[in-house]
Amino acid sequence: MAFKFLIVILTVVQLSQSIPSPNGIGSDLTLLINNDLLGPQSPSANSGVILLTTRSQRSAASACEKLGESLWAPELNTSSIQPTLDYLTFQGKYPQDQQYWIASSPSALRAIDGRGRISDSETLPWAYLPALCTQSAPFSNISAQDTSSKWQVAVHSNNDDITGFRDRLSFRFLGIRYAPQPKRFTYSTPYIGAKNNVSATSYGSQCIQSGTDGSEDCLFLNVWTPYLPAHGGDTRKPVMFWIHGGAFTGGTGNDPTFDGGNIASRGDVVMVAINYRLGSLGFLALDDGVTKGNYGLADIVNALDWVRNNIRDFGGDPDRITIFGQSAGAASVRALLASPKAKGKFAAAIPMSNLGGGGYGTTYSSWMTIDSEVSTTANPILTATNCSTASSKIDCLRAVPASKFPTLPATARYLVVDGTYLTTSELPLGSDAEGSLSKVHLLQGLMRDDGGAITSYIQTTNLSESITTDGFNTSVVVGSPNLFPIPEGSNATLNIFNVTARVATDTIFRCVDQAAAYAGVLNNVFAPNQYFYEFNRSYQTPGWDPNAPVCDAPITSTHPHGNPDQEYFKCHSGELYYVFGTILRMGYTLRDENDLPFEQFTLDSWTSFARTYDPNPDVGLLKARNYSNTIAEIEKSGTWAPLSNGERNGGMVRQLQWPNTSSTIASYIYSYFQEQYLDVSPTATILIMESVDLHSAPHAYTPSTICPQQISKEHVEPEHAELDTGAYEHGATQALGPALG
Ligand SMILES: *[C@@H]1O[C@H](CO)[C@@H](O)[C@H](O)[C@H]1NC(C)=O
Ligand SMILES: *[C@@H]1O[C@H](CO)[C@@H](O)[C@H](O)[C@H]1NC(C)=O
Ligand SMILES: *[C@@H]1O[C@H](CO)[C@@H](O)[C@H](O)[C@H]1NC(C)=O
Ligand SMILES: *[C@@H]1O[C@H](CO)[C@@H](O)[C@H](O)[C@H]1NC(C)=O
Ligand SMILES: *[C@@H]1O[C@H](CO)[C@@H](O)[C@H](O)[C@H]1NC(C)=O
Ligand SMILES: *[C@@H]1O[C@H](CO)[C@@H](O)[C@H](O)[C@H]1NC(C)=O
Ligand SMILES: *[C@@H]1O[C@H](CO)[C@@H](O)[C@H](O)[C@H]1NC(C)=O
Ligand SMILES: *[C@@H]1O[C@H](CO)[C@@H](O)[C@H](O)[C@H]1NC(C)=O
Ligand SMILES: *[C@@H]1O[C@H](CO)[C@@H](O)[C@H](O)[C@H]1NC(C)=O
Ligand SMILES: *[C@@H]1O[C@H](CO)[C@@H](O)[C@H](O)[C@H]1NC(C)=O
Ligand SMILES: *[C@@H]1O[C@H](CO)[C@@H](O)[C@H](O)[C@H]1NC(C)=O
Repeated sequence: MAFKFLIVILTVVQLSQSIPSPNGIGSDLTLLINNDLLGPQSPSANSGVILLTTRSQRSAASACEKLGESLWAPELNTSSIQPTLDYLTFQGKYPQDQQYWIASSPSALRAIDGRGRISDSETLPWAYLPALCTQSAPFSNISAQDTSSKWQVAVHSNNDDITGFRDRLSFRFLGIRYAPQPKRFTYSTPYIGAKNNVSATSYGSQCIQSGTDGSEDCLFLNVWTPYLPAHGGDTRKPVMFWIHGGAFTGGTGNDPTFDGGNIASRGDVVMVAINYRLGSLGFLALDDGVTKGNYGLADIVNALDWVRNNIRDFGGDPDRITIFGQSAGAASVRALLASPKAKGKFAAAIPMSNLGGGGYGTTYSSWMTIDSEVSTTANPILTATNCSTASSKIDCLRAVPASKFPTLPATARYLVVDGTYLTTSELPLGSDAEGSLSKVHLLQGLMRDDGGAITSYIQTTNLSESITTDGFNTSVVVGSPNLFPIPEGSNATLNIFNVTARVATDTIFRCVDQAAAYAGVLNNVFAPNQYFYEFNRSYQTPGWDPNAPVCDAPITSTHPHGNPDQEYFKCHSGELYYVFGTILRMGYTLRDENDLPFEQFTLDSWTSFARTYDPNPDVGLLKARNYSNTIAEIEKSGTWAPLSNGERNGGMVRQLQWPNTSSTIASYIYSYFQEQYLDVSPTATILIMESVDLHSAPHAYTPSTICPQQISKEHVEPEHAELDTGAYEHGATQALGPALG
């Protein structure tokens, strides 16, 4: 993922008494704004206010002043604050006739009520009311954020005073340390504050990775929140805990693609994004009985512990944590679902485009033994570093400069069964799966053409050559022309790529993810109401756009930035800007009139899931906040139905696209797994990745072998054929194409 460095306007942290804090002011601080994701160009860009808790008028005025603001006034001609008032009423925090302090007129004190009526009654001077301050902190964006002391705010947490700052949308605490620099190849430990004043106004170092700089002292996280409580406060927001992707070898929670400002502000959640150790420094295991790998996974658990212990101080609810991640981040989510060390520490999970199968993807979901990691990966690393014959291999490896590891011919980037963080080779999804998972709420899915960016575009018109070169099973694909028809477009190599991309998507993503969804529902492994999606609109990250331009909407005379209504591959990572609402913040362009409403809808669906474990946003909330595009979309497309056990045509896989996300083609998980192929009873045991036998009970199958099983022609109904495909070849793990997003 491309990551451009911020030009920080001013980084000087003035650790002086002048830095306000919720405790110092004696008020919760709530940033509210009508955020349509248009940033500074929004018609409601200046609708922001800071809500203070109940107090006298004089205290309200002085608190606003401490924040560098004043009481809000209608004379400022800001765009309407009515959606903010309506939202406060909707939340039940205050009744609709509640009055809030605003600026005085020349002759009298004034308040505004929940309906927007302004009064200056004679009784006001004695009232204790919540108050609305102006909010003039500037917007930040990919290349600029103003961290000057005027916008700083301090929070007491984890035994430190942590100074962050606010922009127009949220409070931002960047680069909070959650672990001291760990000794290489050992688990990180929790960082405990030492009553210091610490700065959280600039990102912490990313972890060592190829191509860019980094540090072994990289265990930092970022927090974005719309709400800071004083003295514990009385409100807690849901928490979204983001685990970045990057093939377990790259990426950082500092990536502006994932900036949490919009999701925190529009979604009213607290977002956390973390760094964890990568590559061999994060995952190398040896056969010495001590060096057991999974350090990066252990870092994630350590960060999760930090959140559970400290997120209340930032307005978050430790009992409502949704972990979410994409690509290797989704694989991390899956590992946390399986890990005894993460058990009970989160309420919900959103794995996005998890990999498993197809050679390259296999190790994301099927965890290696330490022995096989040692023979395939650790030994070549030892050889390359001249550590094979050292009296202490681990000491020898510790003496190698950290920056050397990403350049070695082998990289230990695999989760392993270490007996502590992972105790099984798969996520157990059978009817005997760990009971604790039954409480976890699950939303998962993929991009329609995830594989279009993961596999190489071979310039060939020979299907066998393309399938073989990309590592898939040629005989299955070429031998099933009904399942893998070659399109008849004018570009012959593109026709071949079309088939190859579909094989890659099914083999690496669709099989494992749908199998997990299916087994989870069938065996009641998770909380009731699992949701599954497939994106059919995408906005490929320009910084990571393999095989360009196939993953980009075609450029036409009417659409100079691409026309998403035309066909193109909806590839890996193409959902990220929508989920985080960051298209414009990144400096990119809305390609058509639907990009913005779709971005709003996606963000609203994800944050709804974090709030209620249901991606269908509460229409009352949408009305209160004037999220009218999302209301219109829901009216058009209807409810996103959960997967359900035994229902043939219920809404199963939700197509996420625009215009109109009608779920009419949604039933295929069931037709695919149950109706067409599996003669299973609801009580059957499904163990993912065990055997290929689909037809005898207890049912045990692997998503990577299930797919070739299921493409036998007699089992495929033509209308489902497109979806019911897959090919797989066992083989050494291989890097296909460019690094993952
Ligand atoms: C932190 O800053 C406050 C306010 O300036 C100051 O009173 C206090 O002594 C500082 N604490 C430390 C440990 O430096
Ligand atoms: C608000 O609008 C009124 C009427 O147009 C104008 O007189 C006033 O100067 C404006 N106030 C500000 C702060 O721009
Ligand atoms: C390993 O040893 C060989 C031979 O002594 C030397 O050429 C090579 O540079 C060494 N490699 C490293 C990574 O130290
Ligand atoms: C197509 O590719 C396959 C495998 O690479 C090869 O065996 C075959 O000869 C090729 N066919 C043609 C017509 O070139
Ligand atoms: C076919 O499409 C690919 C991908 O857009 C492109 O690289 C290639 O040049 C096209 N070939 C022809 C003959 O147009
Ligand atoms: C997916 O999107 C394309 C436009 O990019 C559209 O042509 C196609 O009909 C959509 N697929 C479905 C199933 O709606
Ligand atoms: C791939 O080919 C199928 C026909 O087999 C077509 O429906 C689909 O739109 C093509 N995909 C892209 C991205 O062009
Ligand atoms: C970011 O904000 C700065 C300062 O407001 C502005 O000059 C710059 O154009 C903005 N960049 C983008 C990509 O919006
Ligand atoms: C509500 O949104 C609509 C369109 O999105 C806009 O025209 C209207 O001004 C908004 N209302 C308020 C009170 O902000
Ligand atoms: C979705 O769009 C298609 C084509 O424009 C239309 O036929 C269909 O009725 C729409 N469905 C919904 C639910 O709006
Ligand atoms: C490819 O699939 C066929 C049919 O399922 C199977 O017989 C063959 O063993 C597979 N080849 C490899 C290399 O896995």
